[in-house]
This record gives sequence, structure tokens and C-alpha cells, in this order.
Amino acid sequence: MNRHFTQHQDADGIVWLTFDSPDKAANVLTGEALEELDTHLVTIAQSHPRGLVIRSGKESGFIAGADVKAFARIDSADEARELILRAHDIFRRLEALSFPTVALIHGFCLGGGLELALACRYRVASTDPATRLGFPEVRLGIFPGFGGSVRSTRLIGHLAAMELMLSGRNLYPRAARKLGLVDHALPRRQLNNAARHLIMEQPPRHRPPFRQRLAGNAILRPAIAALLRRQVGKRAPREHYPAPYSLIDHWRRHAGQMADMYASEARRVPELLVGKTARNLIRVFLLQDSLKNQAADSSFHARQVHVIGGGVMGGDIAAWCVLRGLRVTLQDRGPERLGRAVSRAHQLFQKKLRDRYLVQDAMDRLIPDHQGNGLGRADLVIEAIFEDLDAKRALYGQIEGRMKQDAILATNTSSIPLQQLGEGLARPERFIGLHFFNPVAKMPLVEIVTTEDTPAELVAAASRFTRDIGKLPLPVRSRPGFLVNRVLMPYLMEAVILLDEGVPAADIDQAAVRFGMPMGPVELADTVGLDICLSVAEKLSALLPGKVPDILRRRVEQGRLGRKSGEGFYRWIKGRPQKEKSNATPEALAHYSDRMILRLVNEAVACLREGIVSDADHLDAGIVFGTGFAPFRGGPLHHVREEGVEQFFGKLQKLEYTYGERFAPDAGWAQLQEQQ
Ligand code: NAI
Repeated sequence: MNRHFTQHQDADGIVWLTFDSPDKAANVLTGEALEELDTHLVTIAQSHPRGLVIRSGKESGFIAGADVKAFARIDSADEARELILRAHDIFRRLEALSFPTVALIHGFCLGGGLELALACRYRVASTDPATRLGFPEVRLGIFPGFGGSVRSTRLIGHLAAMELMLSGRNLYPRAARKLGLVDHALPRRQLNNAARHLIMEQPPRHRPPFRQRLAGNAILRPAIAALLRRQVGKRAPREHYPAPYSLIDHWRRHAGQMADMYASEARRVPELLVGKTARNLIRVFLLQDSLKNQAADSSFHARQVHVIGGGVMGGDIAAWCVLRGLRVTLQDRGPERLGRAVSRAHQLFQKKLRDRYLVQDAMDRLIPDHQGNGLGRADLVIEAIFEDLDAKRALYGQIEGRMKQDAILATNTSSIPLQQLGEGLARPERFIGLHFFNPVAKMPLVEIVTTEDTPAELVAAASRFTRDIGKLPLPVRSRPGFLVNRVLMPYLMEAVILLDEGVPAADIDQAAVRFGMPMGPVELADTVGLDICLSVAEKLSALLPGKVPDILRRRVEQGRLGRKSGEGFYRWIKGRPQKEKSNATPEALAHYSDRMILRLVNEAVACLREGIVSDADHLDAGIVFGTGFAPFRGGPLHHVREEGVEQFFGKLQKLEYTYGERFAPDAGWAQLQEQQ
């Protein structure tokens, strides 16, 4: 059956095999697709063509990877091993064909997709900005298992391939060309000819430079492996993330020995796949997918966006939308205020686009507009002016009549209830919150803030827009702090209380990092700005038990605001906090992290009970993507369920007994206990 692939032979005797899975936006290497590929390879081999080109029929790209959903369903290492051995066979069949083979790549070529491409003799990639090649497997708690670790080290060399697999980073086509991962990086219209040329000419394959080959030498490997382990250890401790260490070990023992490497892949990857870390990272990946897909059927498409308020947030939101291809008019109270936003946008474009013409193109799409001329043309207006109810309401009064009838008005407010903001509006049914996080370019989540009256179709449209600009939409109810700030604040405040008790800042941060947070809470508070933390904490104080710690207020009064003023809880030099080395015992660190994390978890339980988000999965997703909560734990509620609801509940009760009501278990625990 030709469900996924179609083939046709051209006048030159070249077979073009097109991968185009039905009913999907992207090609994924499912078990079914792999089997069908195998059948095609058998018949193509028998017909002895001049060459074979494998390409994608999808606009989105070549192949997005292996079937992660199927990974989640695998429940024994044996089952995983079977799949891997089968993929090894099929890719070996492709590799062993007696005629030249070319992978023709545009868009995403990731994971299993890149492994398939590596089994071809040649690869050509288009230079369009959406093209990305990489091995994201370590982000899922595994490493490339379809022969990728074998073929990448052989093609581009040991150090380059290990770096690529260990970092999980994506390569742009030109960087891939430089490494030798692809033979040509060309504009898309030239790909077919380039593939044809490779088949006709059959140039020698790429060979890695001498230094790269030398690194695979058995005498040098142990020292290089130790170095790699040290580098990985800085960002991913072994007990939380075993995959990179297993990959290093795999390489150290077997590099260059093809058969051993295949066997080791088929042994190690299944073990990792059924381990706790991979299970949780795969869960987080699927949660991310579900956030992305919730607006799939909305037809809303913003061609033009108008942003009002060119400060920290508005300026960066405008720049981000432009980066993602939109035309944006940016309004502030005068032309001089827009200069800073435009120059920050220019820096972002340079960093991300790295091409003079693309940067110029982006700058042309960002239009400073202090008179608001773009208002009448925009499909979406994003308001990001001062956090002041009257100022925002006054602005809405001035602009609503100038907007298109069906345009959406979105506010980036971080604390004012939507109900109050929307009171005087003529079209409240087109009003919604789009809560971006600072820094916009780095934070993946956007909270879609709604009230009971927000139409579902508007939520879908706002989610669709968020997805279109490459962010993850999370619908939340308009209650103070929404979801992310609400759960983050008790965690930060507990860190500040620990400071007040005399615990060194470095110990507190170390405790959180050991738990798996990307940055300690004290450093985070300094980075966000202590004034902002104080203002959010005060706004939430009615909701959160315990008073805002004095030490925070004092720092703000003294002008010690954190990173931006050079000093907060840390002294900051050249953008880095000056930390002492932490000397706390493991028991002390565990106690500190319990105190901070349990407050976060308790607040998360309260948010679920109050219906701030639609369900527990959305809650976990929001907290992982909004706060960086240890992804390998699969989200706070998942973590609680995995470790045992009773155990957490008991710990909270003990802490309540010692420290008082701020640890009182929320009423929502009863429901979790019932479900356990
Ligand atoms: P900001 O003070 O940096 O910028 C506000 C900008 O709005 C200023 O450039 C000001 O000139 C302009 N503005 C004020 N009134 C205006 C009007 N009537 N017409 C046109 N422009 C006007 O403020 P920031 O930090 O960018 O915050 C903006 C909004 O984003 C607030 O609602 C805030 O709560 C929210 N927010 C802030 C975050 C942060 O970390 N700073 C994070 C998430 C949301």
C-alpha cells in the first residue's frame, strides 16, 4: 500500500521517492511508514535505477523525527529493542543500495529523519530559513538509536557528532554544510538539480578532517570522554539526565567499531527509553504538542499586528512578532520613545537571523507609528502600556472606535483582572489577555487570559496567533497572578524567608538547582528585579498566606533592585551574580528545596481546584514552560503522583506544624488523594 510514499522514475532513470503521510502536517517515521519504506526499497533495488532521491511532499519539512507518541506507549525495553533493530535493518538496506542515493531536505530534518538522511550516500538541504537539522533525542532522555550515532561520527567526525548529539541543538543548513553533514546547502529551487548532479557525477563522499578522525583513536577516547562528561555535568547532572552519559560511554567503548556500535545502540536506547527521565521528558514533549494543537482548527490569521506601548514588553513583543514574519506597527506616546525599542529589535534580528538581507527585511516590517496609523489595519492590537487600570481603560476608549470591527484587542496585563479592564468596552467579546513573559524572546509560554464570558472562538483565535508566532498558548482564568506568577510567588517568597533566616543565597539556589530548576530562586528574583517581585507579591498577598518578607521591601527601598542596579541579594558584575561556593550538607539542601517546592506544589493544587486551567496536564505544562520546573519530573502534579500523594501531603502537614499556615495543605489535596 502506498499510504506514505509514492515513487516515480524520471527520463534519466532516477527514482524519486516522496514521503507524504496522509492527514498530517508533518512527516513522522511511524512503524507503519518505516515498513512501507522498506517495501519500496526492496522493489527499487530490484529495478536497478540510476539513483534514488528521497524527498518530502510536505511544506513543513522533510521528516520531523521518529514517532514520539509511539515511544510513550512502549512499556518494555524488549519492545523498544525490536523497533530499533527493525529500523537498523531498513536503514542498512538503504545504505547498501548499489546506486547513489540522495536525501533532499527542506524544513525540519530531525532525529529519526536525520538518521534516515544519513543512511543515504548524499544529502542536499535548502537554505530557506525554516531548514533545521539536528538530533533532539537527548531532550527526550534518549540518544539517536536508528544508527545515527554510528553514521554521524563516521560522516562528520567524532567531536562534531558528539557535540551535536549531546547538545540536541539544531543546525541551520549552512552550518550543516560546513560540518559536512550535508553535501550542498542551496536555494530550494536548485535542490532537484543538485540531487540529479550528485547521482550523475557520484563525487566522493564527505570525509571528516584528520583531527576529527584522530579523536576516535582508542588511546585518546577515555580522556576525551572524561572531558565531555565534565562539560555535560555543568548543565545536566547524571542522576537527572542519564542519556548524555550513556551516549558518552557508548562512544568511548565502541567508537569506530560499527557492529558493536549498532549493538550498543540497540541495548542502551531501549533501557533509557523505559527509564523515568525519558518517560517524563516524553510526557513534557507531548504536553507541548497538545498546547500547540489546541487551536489547530481556528482559521484566525493575523496579517498585521499593532502593539501599543514600546517599553520592555511591548517593544519585545513587537520585535518577536516581526521575527516570526509578521508586519507590526508599534505605538508609544512619542517618536523618541520608540527608538530604544527599534534598536533592541535590531539586536534581536541580528542575533537570530545572522543575514544582512533578512535583518533588513525584518526591520522593514517593524514600523514605528506614534500616531497609531496602523490601528485601523490591524487584525490584532496588543496593549502593553503601564500597569494602570485607568490608563489602560482611557486608552481603550480612544482606540476601540478606530479598530477594525472584527479585530482582537489583547492586553498584556500581568495583574489587573480582565473583568475590570473590559468594563467600558463596546466589543467585550473581542477582548482577551495575552500574557507574555519577560524576556519575550526566551520564554516559550503565553498565558491566554480569559473570563467566564470569553467566547471559545476568541480563545481559539488568540491561541492560534500564539502558536503562529512560535509560542505555546495556555488558556487561564483571570484570577490574580493567573497561573505562572501565582505558583512562582510562594516559591520565591519561601526563598526570601530562608534568606531572612540567615541561609546563604548560594545554598538556597543550589538546593533548587539540585532539584532540577534551571536557575536558583534568589538569582531569578535578582534577574527579574526585586521591585517587580515585590509588586507582584503585594498584589497576590491577599491570596497567599504569610506576609511579604520585610527583607524584600528593605532591599527595594535601598534601591538594591537586583541585576539591573548592580546589586540585589547578590552583587552583580558583568551580568553575573557573585556567588560563594555552597557548603551546605545534602540534608540541608533537601530541606530547603522541600520548603520551596512544596509551596509551589501546594499553590498548583489550589489553582487546579479553582479551575485556573482546564486540567492537570495543562497545569503541569504551564508550570514547566512558564517557570522551567524540572522537566525530567514531568510537571509538579505528575511529580507528586509519581512520588506519592500521601508522602507530599504528610510533608506539608509537618512543615505547617513547624512553620505555620503558609504550609497548610490546600483543600484540593483531597481530590488528589481520592484519585491516587
Ligand atoms: P514599561 O514601563 O517598560 O513600558 C510601558 C510603555 O508604555 C512606555 O514606553 C510608555 O511610554 C508607554 N505608554 C504608556 N501609556 C501609553 C499610552 N497611553 N499610549 C501609548 N504608549 C503608552 O512597562 P512594561 O514592563 O513593558 O509593562 C507593560 C505591560 O506589560 C504592563 O501591563 C505589565 O504589567 C505587563 N507585563 C510586564 C512584564 C515585565 O516583566 N515587565 C511581564 C509581563 C507583563
